[in-house]
Amino acid sequence: MGNDLKLRRWRESDCRMIYDWRISPETMRWCFDQQIFPYDGHECWFAGFLKNSRRFGFILEDDGQPVAQIRFDPAELTGCYRISLAVAPGRSGHGYGSSILHLACQSSEIRRNAALLVAETMLDNLPSQKIFVRNGFIQAGSGESAGFKMLCWLLPVHSFAHPLPIQFFAEPAWMEDIEKILSATGLALAGDATAQVKLFMGAAVSDSDLVSSVVLHLNVNHTTVLDLALRYPGQIELPVEFCNMQTAVAQLAASLSFLQTC
Ligand SMILES: CC(C)(COP(=O)(O)OP(=O)(O)OC[C@H]1O[C@@H](n2cnc3c(N)ncnc32)[C@H](O)[C@@H]1OP(=O)(O)O)[C@@H](O)C(=O)NCCC(=O)NCCS
Repeated sequence: MGNDLKLRRWRESDCRMIYDWRISPETMRWCFDQQIFPYDGHECWFAGFLKNSRRFGFILEDDGQPVAQIRFDPAELTGCYRISLAVAPGRSGHGYGSSILHLACQSSEIRRNAALLVAETMLDNLPSQKIFVRNGFIQAGSGESAGFKMLCWLLPVHSFAHPLPIQFFAEPAWMEDIEKILSATGLALAGDATAQVKLFMGAAVSDSDLVSSVVLHLNVNHTTVLDLALRYPGQIELPVEFCNMQTAVAQLAASLSFLQTC
């Protein structure tokens, strides 16, 4: 890796290169979607991506040569973004993956628009797991996508001086995982009856007055689905499916904090 690393946004002329990188066997090996899609479909997707002000794509250049790309797509909830990245074929193992992840997560675009970053890696994708750990991502349980077992990773973009208090109504077995992810991310605190956000999980019920609270229900029987959201301050289309309970709780906390501050 040289000393002249530069991060820049995707531009129209990157379309073919990003397609070629995406369909290279080195990248395909680790994609949840293993289908090779036609180039004209990619062109259309790429043009739509560039036009969309809520999507962010970056290229890392080393001495003027493109060596890696990363993109941030809106995740399930407002203020949460999902990351995909790849280094150019033949360029892996030189630190470019870690550098683009670091630089892009620190970029003004991401710091302005995101409260929480989410990533998913295949269980045996050790190089990608290494770069997420190195860049401070927190391991947040596992999940499944297209039949592949995956690990989930989270990175809060800001540290919150006043984490959001949430009252959880959940089985004790789930509380342990919830408390772990809250203390690792600092996104929320397990609050008491005075908390203005109530999160019900499974079949939990309450007889307290919920009229003025944000009331959320996560159905965690088979998958993790948000199926009820009362007084959620942003636009939300129910149901919302998450890859596991930890990413659901973290996204809800991050999203509510983000919506309160913007
Ligand atoms: C994952 C990826 C982005 C990493 O980029 P990279 O530039 O190769 O990463 P880095 O050089 O910064 O670091 C890779 C680390 O993995 C290590 N590594 C490489 N192969 C490994 C293996 N088989 N087992 C364990 N560690 C391995 C490297 O030694 C290095 O660790 P080190 O710095 O401690 O030595 C790149 O390999 C890639 O594009 N993969 C295909 C697409 C992909 O998997 N994307 C991630 C899913 S979102």
